[in-house]
Amino acid sequence: MRRPIVAIDGPAASGKSTTARLVAERLGYRWVDTGAMYRALALKVVREGIKPWEEGRLREMLGRTEVRLEEGDGGLRVLLDGEDVTELVRSPEVTRAVSWVCALPFVREAMVQLQRRMAAGGGVVMEGRDIGTIVVPDAEVKVFLDADVRERARRRWRELREKGMDVSLEDVERELEERDRKDSAREHSPLRRAPDAILVDTTNLSVEEQVERIVRMVKAYVQAAGKGSL
Ligand code: DC
Repeated sequence: MRRPIVAIDGPAASGKSTTARLVAERLGYRWVDTGAMYRALALKVVREGIKPWEEGRLREMLGRTEVRLEEGDGGLRVLLDGEDVTELVRSPEVTRAVSWVCALPFVREAMVQLQRRMAAGGGVVMEGRDIGTIVVPDAEVKVFLDADVRERARRRWRELREKGMDVSLEDVERELEERDRKDSAREHSPLRRAPDAILVDTTNLSVEEQVERIVRMVKAYVQAAGKGSL
């Protein structure tokens, strides 16, 4: 039996990356962070000074760009044309640009194709905004992670402070709300919960609890499928 595909979607700072990484580790599956792929493209857009209205330049750039994810001892590395940009893609500048870059249909088409190839074969935990709805709608296990916006802002704020960034909680919350709004309102592949995705509200859950819940779902699926009861 092919190992399942686990799709994890949800808004910014809902805990997707931490959860997906740990679930993948516990199950021995691959972890694919699709947000990091859009971020890598946005980094190149920033570097080349491409503006939102310069669609032709962006199309041309896309044609000569290679985005790869590689798992190693230090976690997941993001490679842009062979260069390790794992840390660079987290900069505020890239975070601002990614919102419009990822809303362009031809960008999404290219990334979705690549992501489908990465998911083929199973044994993968893929996280993003449209994994259960568009990228792999037939994923065997679908989860929608969510949390109260205040709690998400607090988590993101703590993370940024640990990295030495001097930001206010209010600004972080405002930025998150803005990104949620853009991700949910865009015309192509907006953020929404697939009807068959299981909602996991992490507001009052520890990381360990949310990981455990998803791991149990996957194991239950595998067991049921093994017995032929699915
Ligand atoms: O999860 P993240 O914050 O690293 O994602 C970066 C951006 O990419 C975010 O603004 C939403 C977008 N994204 C998307 O549109 N589709 C995905 N599958 C993953 C991310």
